[in-house]
Amino acid sequence: MAGLEGIRACVFDAYGTLFDVGSPVQKLATEIGEKASGLASLWRQKQLEYTWLRSLMGVHADFWHVTGDALDFSLEALKIEDVGLRDELMTLYLKLDAYPEVAEALKALKAKGKRMAILSNGSPSMLDSAVRTAGLEKYFDMVLSVEDVGIYKPSRRVYRHAMHKLQIQDAPAICFVSANSWDAQAAAQFGFQVVRLARSGGQDDRIPGKPSAVIQSLSELAALVS
Ligand code: 2OP
Repeated sequence: MAGLEGIRACVFDAYGTLFDVGSPVQKLATEIGEKASGLASLWRQKQLEYTWLRSLMGVHADFWHVTGDALDFSLEALKIEDVGLRDELMTLYLKLDAYPEVAEALKALKAKGKRMAILSNGSPSMLDSAVRTAGLEKYFDMVLSVEDVGIYKPSRRVYRHAMHKLQIQDAPAICFVSANSWDAQAAAQFGFQVVRLARSGGQDDRIPGKPSAVIQSLSELAALVS
């Protein structure tokens, strides 16, 4: 696979890329029972839909609010009536598991002298909590939230915000890494050099934008970037 050259900073998506959004439901799987996997996928799907809908409607609410709305919808849709479950799941969302290879992969990249940042839909307090829980704060020069922009990915305004904060004028000097295909493709269409992380296979969405590379694990990243 061809490497990415001329990279001055690596910018990471957070949810689904560094942090396992399935971990809250997984931890309460016994309590939830047979509807657990349906709940995990509907919750994530609705969470993303609500970010896109709100962005199109011009009615922003932060990711904590949207994540709660998506969970309420999903619990109702699946007829899961368990007093207390909502709060337990939301609390766990603040302490998501990082994927096992993440810390080592970030360390390897840092050793190459690259600046590193997160660019995420998450609200600043959600991101702060997830990054600290996983002990990843030492790797990042910046943790950037869409809250500074007031609209969600894949708005170009969000990707432009990263360039502005990193003071990089040349989009291809940024390596953007995301496991969300729509995010990876939109960032590529914007002009970043993009690595799509295909943890469990997956395919490109039928939207414009082509990642420069596809990897299966973040452990492959450092060797790709120069
Ligand atoms: C993030 O912005 C899209 O969930 C993804 O972290």
